[in-house]
Amino acid sequence: MSKSHLFSPINVGGLELANRIVIAPMCQYSAEDGRMTDWHMMHLGQLSHSGAGLLTIEATAVEPAGRITAGDVGLWDDATQAAIAAVVASIRRWSSMPLAIQLAHAGRKASCDLPWQGGAQLPPDHGRGWQTFGPSTVPFSPKDNPPVALDEAGLERVKNAFEQAARRSARLGFDAIQVHAAHGYLLHSFLSPLSNQRNDEYGGSLENRMRFPLEVFEAVRAAFPADRPVTLRVSATDWIEGGWDVTQTIALAQALEERGCAAINVSSGGLHVDQQIPISPSYQVPLARKVKEAVTIPVVAVGLITEPEQAEAVVATGDADMIGLARTILYDPRWPWHAAAKLQASVEAPPQYWRSQPSGLRGLFKPS
Ligand SMILES: Cc1cc2nc3c(=O)[nH]c(=O)nc-3n(C[C@H](O)[C@H](O)[C@H](O)COP(=O)(O)O)c2cc1C
Repeated sequence: MSKSHLFSPINVGGLELANRIVIAPMCQYSAEDGRMTDWHMMHLGQLSHSGAGLLTIEATAVEPAGRITAGDVGLWDDATQAAIAAVVASIRRWSSMPLAIQLAHAGRKASCDLPWQGGAQLPPDHGRGWQTFGPSTVPFSPKDNPPVALDEAGLERVKNAFEQAARRSARLGFDAIQVHAAHGYLLHSFLSPLSNQRNDEYGGSLENRMRFPLEVFEAVRAAFPADRPVTLRVSATDWIEGGWDVTQTIALAQALEERGCAAINVSSGGLHVDQQIPISPSYQVPLARKVKEAVTIPVVAVGLITEPEQAEAVVATGDADMIGLARTILYDPRWPWHAAAKLQASVEAPPQYWRSQPSGLRGLFKPS
């Protein structure tokens, strides 16, 4: 029996995960009119054989205007649902890895060019651009087209879109939903006083700025089966004076826990062009630890976690309950196998690959 903390199971809101490695959501900008393509089949297919405890599908827009780029995945109608269904069916046929979907709205950071084409925001009159929405008319960058401030009907529309996407996620058989409230996108932009300059009940005090994200969370929670977890991803700080910070994040995390949130995924930044991020290995782990000290639900730490011993230490020291991997697992899609080998643990692998087990590592692979 392995003594690895990283490879010990965990229960997240009723969902049993085989280990503490979570594949973080990663936009692929390879959808067509919001519909997943065969790229997603290949990309998610290979990650579903990585041995991680959970695979989180990329930021999935709840309405067309909520896409970061025209290549983003969406879940707003039968066609987008059917495209996801085909990919999920293929993954489920060959992998038992639990699947989560991240539901998102890009807000004022929507309508951008593909990252590998520069990633600049495209104006509404551009063929691949559209009008963006936000809490206020403050743009992300002074160069951007100002967003339209969501009025009462607009807030209702967006909340309803999240709710409908949650219902579709349930029908698609997802094991969990993650609500995206990080990286400067719509829900984060309501939280931060730098982007939210409303003077109605959705702006001003911390309670008011949290109101819309919490309403969205509640709508998603109510629309998804009670025995399946809904989690939330937050930026714990804007990394800028006068912005959203970890103290406010703790208040949000506690409010979420009261509302049945099953886990908090702690990221940071993305809201302001002048952010000063002290990037180094595990740089967001101290933020996760502060959140973990304030709630009883599991907390996920993410960001430049690259080494098995580093990941093991995050979990073993109690900094966080799970670790998220993005670039690390893109670079090495068998990272959990290699980590299990180093930490003398075992990992689920498909039988088609069992013959690859290096001699001397007997017991590395276990059947899925
Ligand atoms: C290609 C790519 C796409 C990403 N897309 C998303 C996304 O859809 N949703 C999200 O919350 N974060 C997204 N992120 C951020 C990652 O989930 C993760 O938080 C971040 O990259 C830090 O982890 P890492 O150091 O392991 O890459 C993305 C990151 C990368 C590299």
